[in-house]
Amino acid sequence: MQGSTDPLERIAALGPVEPYRVKMVEPIQTSTREQREGWLDEAGLNLFRVPAECVFVDLLTDSGTGAMSHHQWGAMMQGDESYAGARSFYRLRDTVRELFGFSEVIPTHQGRAAEHLLFAELVKPGKRVLSNTFFDTTRANAEVAGAVADDLPTPEARDLGSDRPFKGDIDLTRLSDVLKSAPAGEIVGVVMTVTNNAGGGQPVSLSNIRGASELCRGHGIPLILDASRIAENGFFIREREKGFADRSVSEIVRAMSECADIMTMSAKKDGLVNIGGLLAMRDAGMAERIRQQMVVTEGFPTYGGLAGRDLDAMAVGLREAQNEEYLAHRIGQVRFLADLLRDLGVPLIEPTGGHGVFVDAAGFLPHIPRQQYPGQALALALYLEGGVRSCEIGSVMFGDDPDAYWPELVRLAIPRRSYSNAQLGAVATAFAALRERRSAIRGVAIVDSPPVLRHFTAKFAFV
Ligand code: F0G
Repeated sequence: MQGSTDPLERIAALGPVEPYRVKMVEPIQTSTREQREGWLDEAGLNLFRVPAECVFVDLLTDSGTGAMSHHQWGAMMQGDESYAGARSFYRLRDTVRELFGFSEVIPTHQGRAAEHLLFAELVKPGKRVLSNTFFDTTRANAEVAGAVADDLPTPEARDLGSDRPFKGDIDLTRLSDVLKSAPAGEIVGVVMTVTNNAGGGQPVSLSNIRGASELCRGHGIPLILDASRIAENGFFIREREKGFADRSVSEIVRAMSECADIMTMSAKKDGLVNIGGLLAMRDAGMAERIRQQMVVTEGFPTYGGLAGRDLDAMAVGLREAQNEEYLAHRIGQVRFLADLLRDLGVPLIEPTGGHGVFVDAAGFLPHIPRQQYPGQALALALYLEGGVRSCEIGSVMFGDDPDAYWPELVRLAIPRRSYSNAQLGAVATAFAALRERRSAIRGVAIVDSPPVLRHFTAKFAFV
């Protein structure tokens, strides 16, 4: 509240207080609108093609973009770079066993490598896998292995503006029906993505995970946890689910993992590292088969395509991500931006999720029809206005199927421990300017498109 004469009100308006201080800085550049117009033009109106140097606040992703702590940097200096059996591996293995309870621990270079190894083991052509909502690499890896991948999100997720606490849940009734009606052996796994990224970063309740786990065990099907943002999910369970208010996030995370047979994880999120992933499980035989396979593409099973120092940074980061003060600030910062945008009249997916703010672009730009990609139009306008890079999550990403349903969104993903509240305020300021002249924002057409994952490289033109 800048105009307030009460200093305490002004302090409160600064947002959540950081539980860290800054020891190294990375300069970022401001630019003029004319410069940004030129860069965007060169990039074919695709923000993935814009050099990071031309971005002021980069909210493209929260993946691998966070700041490591001095404990992590210190641990990196002790990385053991032995090819086989490095001390770094055992430190990571023991940390994963302690935090998540899985006996078999396989490091991978990132989350999608863990998904690839797992589905190559589990899936044969014609099999099926189910999920609350697959993240796109998880779906792609299941499909590449020959499976059909189906999402079974809770119907509550469809109502973007409703304030339900666990919109990331799987639909247990449908899951039960599908498991009952499928021929024996057809469904080879159920993936619970926590938090549910594609569904707006919404959390999954522990009772929902337990329900899915019971159904899976009843049918002899493994429950797989995509644990990329498991610490954030644990924070929400403590905050929102009855009976967990006085449990620690670590206890809750452990309770979530106990429901699962297998865990994949992109450690670039709640592992607080810039690169790394994990595949963990209870079945020693399955782990052994995967270890034999992974030497061909990932590397020896004790380093999995990473340097020893990366394994040490991950071991420390996995623990730090469960620190309660860290999480309160992290989730608080995402909420801080969401509250500003909501008060500016920007329609959002409610309630605010864990790793970012999801803007309902179609609601903000009602004059732009779906065929002209309102999410892409808004992401471009936001960049031109404030040098803010965000990510379209809508028809550009998922395709033009007129019968399919997905909302047209722009994701403002917040990197961990990287940006100040004032910088997030600059993002909201850009939205305030856009709101004033939103009817002048133009839709786009795709002028050049690759056959797969078109959002990364397609080129656009304003219509
Ligand atoms: N699972 C989830 C839920 C994810 O969000 C991601 C990545 C992955 C798996 C794959 O992990 O990138 O380490 O291979 N999400 C990033 C994002 C890219 O921007 O949401 P990865």
